[in-house]
Amino acid sequence: MEPTKTDIVVIGAGPGGYAAAFYAADLGKKVILVEADKKLGGVCLNRGCIPSKALLYATHTLSMAKESEHRGITFQTPNVDLTKLRAWKDGVITKLSGGVAQLAKMRGVEVWAGRGYFEDSNTLRVETEEGQKFINFEQAIVAVGSKAALPKAWDLGNPRVMTSREALEIEEIPENLLVIGGGYIGMELGTVYATLGSKIVLVEALDGILLGADPDLARPIVNYAKKHFKEVRLKTKVGKMSTVGKQIKVEMEVEGQKKEELYDRVLVAVGRVPNCENIGLENTKVTRDERGFIKINEKQQTDDPAIYAIGDVAGGVMLAHKASREARVAVEVIMGESSTFTDVVIPAVIFTDPELAWCGLTEAEAKQKGINIEVAKFPWAASGRALTFDRPDGLTKLLIDPETERILGVGIVGSGAGELIAEGVLAVETGITAKDLALSVHPHPTLSETLMEAAEVFYGHPTHTFVKKKTPHPAP
Ligand code: NAI
Repeated sequence: MEPTKTDIVVIGAGPGGYAAAFYAADLGKKVILVEADKKLGGVCLNRGCIPSKALLYATHTLSMAKESEHRGITFQTPNVDLTKLRAWKDGVITKLSGGVAQLAKMRGVEVWAGRGYFEDSNTLRVETEEGQKFINFEQAIVAVGSKAALPKAWDLGNPRVMTSREALEIEEIPENLLVIGGGYIGMELGTVYATLGSKIVLVEALDGILLGADPDLARPIVNYAKKHFKEVRLKTKVGKMSTVGKQIKVEMEVEGQKKEELYDRVLVAVGRVPNCENIGLENTKVTRDERGFIKINEKQQTDDPAIYAIGDVAGGVMLAHKASREARVAVEVIMGESSTFTDVVIPAVIFTDPELAWCGLTEAEAKQKGINIEVAKFPWAASGRALTFDRPDGLTKLLIDPETERILGVGIVGSGAGELIAEGVLAVETGITAKDLALSVHPHPTLSETLMEAAEVFYGHPTHTFVKKKTPHPAP
């Protein structure tokens, strides 16, 4: 069969792939978007960011109901109908993924349903329901994403050993759930299941949870886990697992001591691996690093001149918004522009309770790189708005260059931190100073004031907290 000719083929329709396809089409290119899954949107939309946030929202109403008791508002013990909850969550996904398909259509992006496989540097074979089809392309953008790592020793073929993919289906609420890994997924899904009533034991190989974040910001989440999980075990190595009746027997070593325990289910959240297998990369000049990620330069170019890679498959932080930005860079480079993915501020948000978000420099990074910074913190216990909804357990902090007074990093822990961090991103990305932030009037009473007041802390004269500064910076 004659191959179909196109300017650009994008493989993978996640937030990297569909963003690239749409942008390229908007700029006048003929684009084919190839996706193996029936639904567009990738892991993020179908089995990651969106369903997890929907579940976190839904289950949050349970904790809100419980917490309102001391305000004199009580509810009867809530009843959770898992079938309805699943249906509602799936409805959100269907709506969004239908929206992506609609947007593709409106732009004239052709969507091919099937698995893509490189025959050579300019030909993609697609295994569709109607049989094999071929695409002859000028450029390809590989955006095939990643999947949850499941070490062989734990892959029992038993659905009770879950990755995030299965855990998001909430087939049941296990009484005893072992969560392996104290990273993003372990903490977010641990929160969902704990709120639904599971007894969670979370084990982490290293000596802390959410180690990518500064410890003062992670602390409220550690406290949450201590209170709402049955146990948090650090420095714990999980060994073998086996099926015992309807349970999973897990061997582990806790700070050097061997233990054997039974769990109703196990959630494995120990990182993600790139989806590079069986896509024919060996038939191109694309190369991969020692961890299997596609090697790219700052222009998203692989070692094959016709092939670009974006998102999780290209390594770096595995976040949807990083993929979407890389999509823009790849398309602009294809269009002949001088775009690069350098010095891009990529915020991180962990949707726990409270939420944790940061962007730009962290304190740990500043220390490691020897960057001189001053840290200005505003505790939410001093925020009127935080007190109106009983969540004084937050903290907003700015990392400021003491010479130029530029804001180099922002970290926020607290309810809604994920939304608040956007102002921090703008501050760091546009290079504004603490003075700019302190002089921008923020609405009262809102949590956004904590950013302004943190900037005032830097100058030694915040209104709602007191700081004794040795060498106050001149007032803005
Ligand atoms: P992660 O890298 O965030 O955390 C994995 C944790 O597991 C680490 O703390 C690691 O030390 C620990 N670990 C590794 N092997 C272990 C073992 N054998 N026993 C015990 N602990 C072990 O990975 P996670 O949570 O699986 O998430 C993967 C990625 O997905 C994240 O890096 C993030 O980029 C993305 N993600 C982003 C979200 C967001 O933006 N809110 C939400 C969920 C995932």
